[in-house]
Amino acid sequence: MLTLQFFIIIFGLGIIFIKLKIRVMKTKLLTPGILLSISIALISCNKSGNTPKNSNVSLSLPATVAQYYGPDDRRNNIATLGRVLFYDPALSVNSAISCGSCHKQAAGFADNVQFSLGFKNVLTRRNSLSIQDINSQMIPDFTYGDTLFRPGSSLFWDGRENNLGNLIMRPVTNHVEMGIADPSVLPSKLASIPYYANLFNNAFGSSQITPNKISGAIALFINSIQTGNSRFELAFNQGGINTSLLTPVEMQGMQLFENKYNCNSCHQTIGGNGTYNTSFSFMNNGLDVNPTDPGLGALTGNAADMGKFKAPELHNIALTAPYMHDGRFKTLDDVLNFYSNGIQKSQNLDGRLQDSSGNGNPIRFNIPNQDRVALKAFLNSLTDYTMVTDPKFSNPFIYQ
Ligand code: HEC
Ligand code: HEC
Repeated sequence: MLTLQFFIIIFGLGIIFIKLKIRVMKTKLLTPGILLSISIALISCNKSGNTPKNSNVSLSLPATVAQYYGPDDRRNNIATLGRVLFYDPALSVNSAISCGSCHKQAAGFADNVQFSLGFKNVLTRRNSLSIQDINSQMIPDFTYGDTLFRPGSSLFWDGRENNLGNLIMRPVTNHVEMGIADPSVLPSKLASIPYYANLFNNAFGSSQITPNKISGAIALFINSIQTGNSRFELAFNQGGINTSLLTPVEMQGMQLFENKYNCNSCHQTIGGNGTYNTSFSFMNNGLDVNPTDPGLGALTGNAADMGKFKAPELHNIALTAPYMHDGRFKTLDDVLNFYSNGIQKSQNLDGRLQDSSGNGNPIRFNIPNQDRVALKAFLNSLTDYTMVTDPKFSNPFIYQ
């Protein structure tokens, strides 16, 4: 706020200065005058961003970030670079926010608010999604000297991107999120920051920076953020379920999730090997009679897709509140209340959430209290505390 006021004052002074000049000298000092006022204003802007000057920044980087590669594999260095980029506010136009501002490790790499603040304090349109368990199909390929990205499963609430490499520059250029309208200016901006020459050199054998290398490095870092150590996964990854590793109430919740309430048919948290995440398809779960956000429908223009969204994976769900694409529910209790008796008769309501009348009426589960307790215990068993506290995924910047 202070920055904005300062900007206005300085810009105002600049304009007055120009007017005076014009009056007194009647010459065309307009251009230098405007340039002067803009540059002073921009300098004032830079000063008060929440990024300390580079000289005051140091980095704490572990040897290994990517979990798939041996210690000598250069992809570890690429992922390490990606980690720095992910947390570096320099990727926003006014160096105010980073990817990590809206994707917080402690919140399962989602945000803990309904909508997130972008670089100029404007709110995002949707609730931030957690970044975890990105399909391994999407791991970028660095073997040809440049970065190749393969398409994979649907990303974003409405699936509008299926290529992680292309996705990375979307928040960078987004006018609400990070605001760098032209990503081709990013390499020279980063080249002026002392710590990047070494990081790029270690990763790619050259300190030359390209938008593709930036995307590739962030993509590789993101790809390395995988769950696997939640109580549920540890119990399941033993070749079938090892019931002794879950409490009876967690087991009961799992059964309810899978059978009685059929949650698993959309969220597919319990797959063949227990680590399956989501069906990556789009459904309407009856949040509204008339959805205000068309979701998938905005992309396809198809009436049958209006109000359809991705059913998110539920790992770390206890940490990613608030819930749904618009963050309308604050707690898991609110979510269970909704599925219990709040589902709306929306035109595209999924058949699995309709009752047996055949009239498209929403199902009323009226979930009894003991089932809620069990469902919640099960959902809590999906939290991977290792992932959300692992130093190798944490913010590497140390500000003095
Ligand atoms: C201002 C907040 C904000 C910033 C900054 C931001 N994001 Fe996001 N991110 C979001 C929101 C909100 C969504 C969900 C948007 C949607 O689905 O329409 C999202 C979704 C995503 C997804 C999709 C996840 C999935 O499972 O579908 C990925 C991946 C992602 N962001 C990566 C990044 C990266 C990389 C950066 C930095 C270059 C970044 N984000 C910066 C708010 C932000
Ligand atoms: C017909 C498919 C379907 C069924 C069945 C279903 N869900 Fe969902 N669920 C969705 C969709 C789609 C969303 C996202 C909706 C949105 O935001 O518009 C969602 C969202 C959620 C969320 C919020 C996720 C987040 O990251 O914000 C939770 C938690 C959840 N469901 C739990 C459950 C539970 C528990 C059950 C069983 C009682 C269940 N779901 C049954 C489709 C389904």
